[in-house]
Amino acid sequence: MLIGVPLETAAGEKRVATVPDVVEKLVKLGFTVAVQSGAGAAANFDDDTYRAAGAEVVGSAAALWAKSDIVFKVRPPSLDEVALMREGSALIGFVWPAQNPALMQALAAKRATVLAIDALPRQLSRAQKMDALTSMAGVSGYRAVIEAANAFGRFFNGQITAAGKIPPAKVFIAGAGVAGLAAIGTAANLGAIVRANDTRAEVADQVTSLGGEFVKVDYEEEGSGGGGYAKVMSEGFQQAQREMYAKQAKECDIIITTALIPGKPAPKLITAEMVKSMKPGSVIVDMAAEQGGNCELTEPGQAVVKHGVTIVGYTDLVSRLAKQSSTLYSNNLLRLTEELCKTKDGIVNVNMEDDAIRGLTVIKDGTVTWPAPPLKLPAPVAKPAAVAAPAPKGHGHGASEPMSAKSLAITFGVGALALLVVGLFAPASFLAHFTVFVLACFIGYMVIWNVTPSLHTPLMSVTNAISSIIAIGALVQIAPPLSAAGAADRPNTLILGMAVLALVLTAINMFGGFAVTRRMLAMFRK
Ligand code: NAI
Repeated sequence: MLIGVPLETAAGEKRVATVPDVVEKLVKLGFTVAVQSGAGAAANFDDDTYRAAGAEVVGSAAALWAKSDIVFKVRPPSLDEVALMREGSALIGFVWPAQNPALMQALAAKRATVLAIDALPRQLSRAQKMDALTSMAGVSGYRAVIEAANAFGRFFNGQITAAGKIPPAKVFIAGAGVAGLAAIGTAANLGAIVRANDTRAEVADQVTSLGGEFVKVDYEEEGSGGGGYAKVMSEGFQQAQREMYAKQAKECDIIITTALIPGKPAPKLITAEMVKSMKPGSVIVDMAAEQGGNCELTEPGQAVVKHGVTIVGYTDLVSRLAKQSSTLYSNNLLRLTEELCKTKDGIVNVNMEDDAIRGLTVIKDGTVTWPAPPLKLPAPVAKPAAVAAPAPKGHGHGASEPMSAKSLAITFGVGALALLVVGLFAPASFLAHFTVFVLACFIGYMVIWNVTPSLHTPLMSVTNAISSIIAIGALVQIAPPLSAAGAADRPNTLILGMAVLALVLTAINMFGGFAVTRRMLAMFRK
């Protein structure tokens, strides 16, 4: 099949859907690739590089669309582009079906098969390699910091120079989704003091792990709306949040806002008053400008100076790093193509039984298949108090199918009989060991079964430490018990040496086990 890559026609769009490196890989998968002349020019990929990678360079958009079996695009095609499309061919790219009903109709009329990369079920871990929304948000978060640094008149990192002491810049990031986290990491790497806030408390650990400080709103309310997205917060929360943001605006030099709830206008977090309260020369980068902006004074697409503060509202942050974003985007499309062409023979198979492909496919052979039915994901581990059914008597954990009283009695009966036989015929020394073994199995089972699976690893490290009972054996060898005559038997040197070695190794096991446990438990603390 022939994959066509046209020049993006949207104003200001510099990305290209396929870079030369990916062309080579598509050819290896058995496809033929054609690229419109100049398609990669704005992202620094010239026609000759495409030719060298094995692509055919086609002069006009009309010729390219007409010969393509599959078109790889970045932005949704315009209706003029759809008119150029060959009937029954396929399109892969951003489509935003909910926002573009006319486009969906036009594509269906062309009997097209359309895979919207924005409709990918991002919850599937298998889908991460194809998640273009995440790669693009990561690029834009990085670029937002670079734009802020460009507009800011000082260093990000603190320095002590012969000419004087320079304080580090203070950066506040509102919203710690994909773009926000990328911005936190970038600003922290540049040496700034980074603070961040999000309505979803679960991101606090991620903020900290990237070098930021999570600033909480002094109001108890869970902000998660499911699927990793936020929900609209109560008026009480918003009031408390505004107070906290007002304080940060006074203290910080740079604010980067990324707050968004899908399908809703961007929440207004930075008021005109807050802008006024910022130090002259401060910078705000409002990443949500396209959805109305998180700052009241943002002008979408522009960088403006108001009350001495530069407010950057660019809506093309991804395009401002076109080479990087094109490379990431085309890798996402390559991973998708690999899923579509597992046979590596240059023929795609849109397998609607595959959850990821089903989610992406918004039109199949002219039939609109969007929206996909909800995914059947394993239910999240619910809080026991809220959902656990009362466990039947005599069955402690109540996790799996409860045993009936009859089968329980039979199991115990058989067990007791087996023990009686062992007790009657086995030697006494075996019996002592056997009793300890059975008790150990029982206690181990009861302990581990009652622990949440997510805590099994720290539990293992604790048991690791406890298993260091060996230490007691080694100590006994080093200082043997007094003999009947009252004098201790002197251990021989070899035994002493082995005992000391055992003690050292066990100590590592013991302290290591507790140290690992401590670190792991810290990860679960809110
Ligand atoms: P995301 O959905 O992963 O992150 C948004 C975050 O905002 C979530 O963590 C959410 O919990 C948080 N949030 C929602 N309401 C909030 C509130 N009231 N207070 C604090 N936090 C709140 O989205 P992603 O992918 O990180 O994108 C962030 C923004 O950047 C979006 O507005 C997106 O459209 C925009 N964007 C802009 C680009 C540009 O060129 N300007 C390019 C790419 C993304």
